[in-house]
Amino acid sequence: MQTIRGFRDILPEKISLWQKVEKEATHLFKSFGFKEIRIPILEKTELFARSIGVVTDIVEKEMYTFEDRKGDKLTLRPEATASIVRSYIQHKMYAKDPIRKFYMIGPMFRRERPQKGRYRQFYQIDAEIFGVESAYVDSQLIFLLNELFKRLGLTGLSAHINSLGCPECRPSFQKALLDFIELKKDSLCENCLRRMDKNPLRILDCKIVDCKKALADAPATLDHLCHDCSSHFDTVKTTLEKQGLDFIVDKSLVRGLDYYTRTAWEIQTTALGAQSAVAGGGRYDGLVKELGGPQTPAIGFAIGFDRLVEIMEQIDNKKEARTIDLFIVSLGDLAMEKGYHWSLELNQAGIRTEMDFRGKSMKALMKRADKLKAQYVLIAREDELKKKTVVIRNMNTKEQVLLAIETLVPELIKIFNK
Ligand code: HAM
Repeated sequence: MQTIRGFRDILPEKISLWQKVEKEATHLFKSFGFKEIRIPILEKTELFARSIGVVTDIVEKEMYTFEDRKGDKLTLRPEATASIVRSYIQHKMYAKDPIRKFYMIGPMFRRERPQKGRYRQFYQIDAEIFGVESAYVDSQLIFLLNELFKRLGLTGLSAHINSLGCPECRPSFQKALLDFIELKKDSLCENCLRRMDKNPLRILDCKIVDCKKALADAPATLDHLCHDCSSHFDTVKTTLEKQGLDFIVDKSLVRGLDYYTRTAWEIQTTALGAQSAVAGGGRYDGLVKELGGPQTPAIGFAIGFDRLVEIMEQIDNKKEARTIDLFIVSLGDLAMEKGYHWSLELNQAGIRTEMDFRGKSMKALMKRADKLKAQYVLIAREDELKKKTVVIRNMNTKEQVLLAIETLVPELIKIFNK
């Protein structure tokens, strides 16, 4: 039996980077006042159709949708924003305090063609802020993303930002776009032609090379912003500049979901071939109302967790990380017994300690320590134990020291906690 195409196991030897990211992200979210929310994996199909948009790639082609035994139409969540908005409305969170900040980490499902950095079950780290219209929040979220990536040691990323306007500026943009498309009709694919009447903005998502070429000079939302959207975007840009963050204003960035208004952004990389976006987000000031809640401005982003880890693996492979702190080489019965108790105490103190109980030779045990990429090796021989000492060897520098067994565990804890 094999996993389904586009689905994968994340095996124990790969998990440490996932845990490191989760730890950094939750720590940072908490410092910025976000609270964790956990939402269901399955929702009514209608929720995603109404929020992401019926005429989008996700809803038209990529959702895992099925009828349950009673005939209810359900969908495995392709993203988290819609569900978090649903939850905000369902629990009337706005009544007590409309300003809320949430984060969640978990699997999403989209039936795309699998390739490097693109899976059918993938993970997102998602953050959303409700109730704040100020452009400072837009630059704050981009700052947060940048800070997380910096803490994780990622470099070479670029922030692409755009403004998609609001219902007030949309009609003028849509008219300009439709006029332009009319002229390019002959070069567009059937899918684009079909979308022309239903959702012209989504024509700009088309991945077909000929369509992309024909649409290269298409009108941009940025050239049709109303006064308020324009000054909002100006504040985002000047704030980012003052924060010392580099960004690229990218007129062609339209994102693939219909709910966006005003600022939208993507953090892009060149490290993953065709999959350039490590994170994406934006404002969606109309969605809460659209789904039945009160008018509430909102904004958020999602990081592609799998992609983030893949970039980190590329960096980490170069470093060849050591995987355990200490390997205990026990030679003889007494050493085995002592070593066993020391290992328990060290494990308890959070020091990654391993030993081997098979009674192997010194040579075989040193080989095992190498295989486990131990940082230190503790060598316990019967003759030295009688003198109440053991040898500690630093596997990087090959330096050795003698430690007294009486104070061995606290001494080791000191060494590892330095
Ligand atoms: P999105 O751009 O569709 O936005 O997805 C966010 C990120 O998820 C992408 O930048 C990418 O890194 C990752 N991702 C998407 N599809 C896949 C896939 N098939 N395999 C691996 N990674 C993938 C959203 O989902 C919005 N809900 C973000 C948001 C939150 N906007 C406002 N709030």
